[in-house]
Amino acid sequence: MSNVEFSLTKLNKPTDWNNLPGMAKKHVPIIEAPAQVKANEPFNVKIKVGGIDGIEHPNTLSHWINWVALYAEDRLIAKIEFGAELTNQYVVNVHVTLPETATLRAQEFCNLHGVWEGKPQKVTVA
Ligand SMILES: [Fe+2]
Repeated sequence: MSNVEFSLTKLNKPTDWNNLPGMAKKHVPIIEAPAQVKANEPFNVKIKVGGIDGIEHPNTLSHWINWVALYAEDRLIAKIEFGAELTNQYVVNVHVTLPETATLRAQEFCNLHGVWEGKPQKVTVA
């Protein structure tokens, strides 16, 4: 991401979270999950796309978030598709069960700005 703010073909993943460009603030998915859970007991993972510092991603027929995907390590847990214009903000909740400690990752795809990944969240199974 040298002098352009995003790539259409590569994963867009911020490296400096203290100095996020505006494009990242409205595109990265943010994961909210407990730090510690019990094995195989369901817990909620909330994912919200963008909205950092109040910078929300648009949702119009020509520019919207097509999908959000949640992974445990490299394994897909859930993938949610959005229809253009018919949501206000991009928030999903997924009930997850883990048999062992895993790092959760979330990605989203914007039809104009490619695939973005936010901060990983480690969930420890105790
Ligand atoms: Fe976008």
